[in-house]
Amino acid sequence: MSTQGLVVDRGLEGVVVGHTGLSNVEGAVGRLTYRGYDIDDLAPNATFEEIVHLLLYGHLPVAAELDRLKRELGSRRSLPEPLVNAMQNVPKTAWPMDVLRTIISGLSLFSPVNSHGEHLSDVHTAIELIAKMPSIVAAWDRIRRGLDPVEPRADLSQAGNFLYMRAGKLPHQIEEQALDTYFVLLADHSYNASTFAARVAASTRADVYASVTAALATLQGDLHGGAASAAHATLVEVGSPANAEKYVRDALGRGERIMGMGHREYKVRDPRARHLEAMARKLSEHVGNSHTYETARALEEASRKVLQEKKPDNTIYANVDFYTAPVLSDLGIPGDEFTCLFACGRVAGWTAHILEQLADNRLIRPQATYDGPIPGPYVPIERRSANGVRS
Ligand code: COA
Repeated sequence: MSTQGLVVDRGLEGVVVGHTGLSNVEGAVGRLTYRGYDIDDLAPNATFEEIVHLLLYGHLPVAAELDRLKRELGSRRSLPEPLVNAMQNVPKTAWPMDVLRTIISGLSLFSPVNSHGEHLSDVHTAIELIAKMPSIVAAWDRIRRGLDPVEPRADLSQAGNFLYMRAGKLPHQIEEQALDTYFVLLADHSYNASTFAARVAASTRADVYASVTAALATLQGDLHGGAASAAHATLVEVGSPANAEKYVRDALGRGERIMGMGHREYKVRDPRARHLEAMARKLSEHVGNSHTYETARALEEASRKVLQEKKPDNTIYANVDFYTAPVLSDLGIPGDEFTCLFACGRVAGWTAHILEQLADNRLIRPQATYDGPIPGPYVPIERRSANGVRS
């Protein structure tokens, strides 16, 4: 649509709003790269800590750099006691994303400020947020189950420590590896909605805590990161592979969407879905129950079949959130926590984007076309009508 010479692209589709050297999404061919490394190479080989280094410092670390980063992450995992106490006073029914967003914002209350009273927005604040996010999710997981939170361990990986803090015991190596790869796959994705929100906030010179809080708020909707939890709810509702096709036909018949399917950028299957599907299969063998994995497979097949019947050239394929559901579910994580786990991976990308924005900042302030009433005089209250019609 074009008004007064301005072009309006609903949802900013196809609009280039900035540049980044962090990641590249090639939607037509289904390729995702972080600083030039293909996730097909990274997912089976790199750890999340290596990706954090790649994104924040610009290169894959040598051994000494990786050790230093791991030590810093490990030393920053503990939460301020008043925030743990605050979580203990939250209603146990509170949604995990609400708790995470609130406590992340609350961290700024306990962070150092410079002589102007401003929080530091540097790489160490970024590492602090990456380190603490899983601690918050794990602490709330236990508190809402009526259990005491477990202190983090500095010697574990980000993934291993989360699973340890949640369960109170060390995870199996397969479980730690699965969550680590999940974090690798989720770490960055160019100017997705939450990352863009983080960059908009940072462009006003809001600090890293505020910018990450904006990103978390934007992640939670089910058209974005909330789709992971929604995809899990769908799997539960479908119940078994035999019900998948009927579920899809009924849902599409009601005009609903299949959660975890479709993507603004990818017009082929999301490259992350392949790795997550393989991981879901491996985990299902590990837990000795392939029911959730098989149901997800059947749901994907049925979705493709029915969507193609409706429109043979449709480009709605499984996205990253689709196989997140069986992976996190087989790790024993409850479905309403999935979006928080997404955030624990994506916080690496958010903070790297915030620092990239600050390094070459200009306020992000787009335009809109105006389609409200034509200008008119102020109407005194005694001359107004209840329905707003101007006399
Ligand atoms: N199930 C069924 N139909 C879908 C669909 C889905 N998951 N995703 C998109 N469509 C359909 C829409 O109904 C629309 O059909 P229409 O043209 O007949 O009205 C068409 O595809 C385009 O949808 P639109 O919302 O304009 O595309 P988009 O680029 O804005 O959508 C998403 C991208 C991700 C928001 C969308 O695919 C979606 O809602 N997916 C489900 C939620 C999800 O998994 N989100 C996580 C993304 S990583």
